Formats: sequence, structure tokens, C-alpha cells
Amino acid sequence: MHFTVEAQNIVSKFLCPGDIAIDATAGNGFDTLFLTEAVGDSGMVYAVDIQSQAIEVVRQKLREANRESRCQLVVASHDQLESIVPQELHGRVAAAMFNLGYLPFGNKSITTQASSTVAALDQVLMLLKPNGLLCVLAYLGHDGGSEEATEVAQWIKRNQDALSIEKFQDANNQRSPILWKLVRRAATP
Ligand SMILES: C[S@@+](CC[C@H](N)C(=O)[O-])C[C@H]1O[C@@H](n2cnc3c(N)ncnc32)[C@H](O)[C@@H]1O
Repeated sequence: MHFTVEAQNIVSKFLCPGDIAIDATAGNGFDTLFLTEAVGDSGMVYAVDIQSQAIEVVRQKLREANRESRCQLVVASHDQLESIVPQELHGRVAAAMFNLGYLPFGNKSITTQASSTVAALDQVLMLLKPNGLLCVLAYLGHDGGSEEATEVAQWIKRNQDALSIEKFQDANNQRSPILWKLVRRAATP
């Protein structure tokens, strides 16, 4: 399974033109570009990354695709999303993507961290609309990756009443990435 492609396949089924989406780890911009295409001219994507170089690369890609107006790009940690997404859109986000780990072809020592990832997941769950999607892709092969995936799994367990949960992993590979498809239940207890 190609996990990044599969993540986009899953997300594409939850987005229509005019929707609001979040890219919680903008990185090289592949997911941001995909999201801006899915939400169209009338939608909006909120995309963050802690690395300003990454955000500048994404900005250039959006400019080349003539899609800057569809995206608010912010150099920030994803545990700031609650304040980045305008108040009037809280509870109205159709889909959010987390592609955890480090920036491919970038500084591999800068990775997502379990504590801020879990704080961001708390915020994004509150930002999602009922039946909105939270798609999380976690990697186990780098330092801290497997601990982060464990903390994400524990967060999902704590929130299982609010979520419908599907997990995808390559059964033949112990270090396989883990892809979670988490849908906010319409009636959150
Ligand atoms: C695997 S890459 C994301 C790839 C990206 N989705 C794409 O399509 O190219 C992970 C990214 O998470 C970023 N990151 C690390 N900690 C973060 C945080 N607390 N908040 C937001 N982004 C963070 C890294 O800088 C890195 O660019």
C-alpha cells in the first residue's frame, strides 16, 4: 500500500467544492495542493508547518498552481490550529490531514512530537463538523516515531465514543506506517 496516496484517496471522499479543510503538517505541500484542488475556489484550506522553509516551498507551489487564494498558510505548530482557524468555522471543518514524522529531503531531526500532536488532535476533533474526517498517517521507522504512534493510538482509544475508527497497516511489515481513518460521529456524546 502506498500510504500517502491512500490517505488522499480516503480524504477525497469527504471533500466537496466549498468545504473547509486542514493540513496539519504542510511539509512539501503535496497534501496542501491536493486539498486546495478538492475544496475548489469557494473553499479554504488552513495549512501549517513549523518550518518556514517548508511553508515558503508550499507557497511557491500554490502560486504556480494559481491557488493562493484557497489557502491560509501559517508557520506554526499544529497545536495552534484552534486559534488559526476562525471561530466561525469551528465545528465546520470537513477533513483534516496529519502526515506525521519528518520532512522528506529536509532536516530529519525535525519531526512531529507526540505531545503537540496529541494536543493538536484534541483541537482538530473540536474543529471538525459531524461526519468530518480526521486522517492520521504515522511512521514507526525514525526516532520517536513508534512512541508517537502509540500516543496517537491511546488518544484514539480515549476518544473512541466520539469517533468511528478504521486502521490500515501492512500486516507483513512490522515497521509499516499506520494510517487511521477517523470520522467524527454525528452525535458526539
Ligand atoms: C511527513 S512531513 C509532511 C508531508 C506533507 N504532508 C506533504 O504533503 O509533503 C511532516 C512535516 O511535519 C512538520 N512538523 C513537525 N512538527 C510540527 C508541528 N508541531 N506542527 C506542524 N508541523 C510540524 C515537519 O516540519 C514536516 O514538514
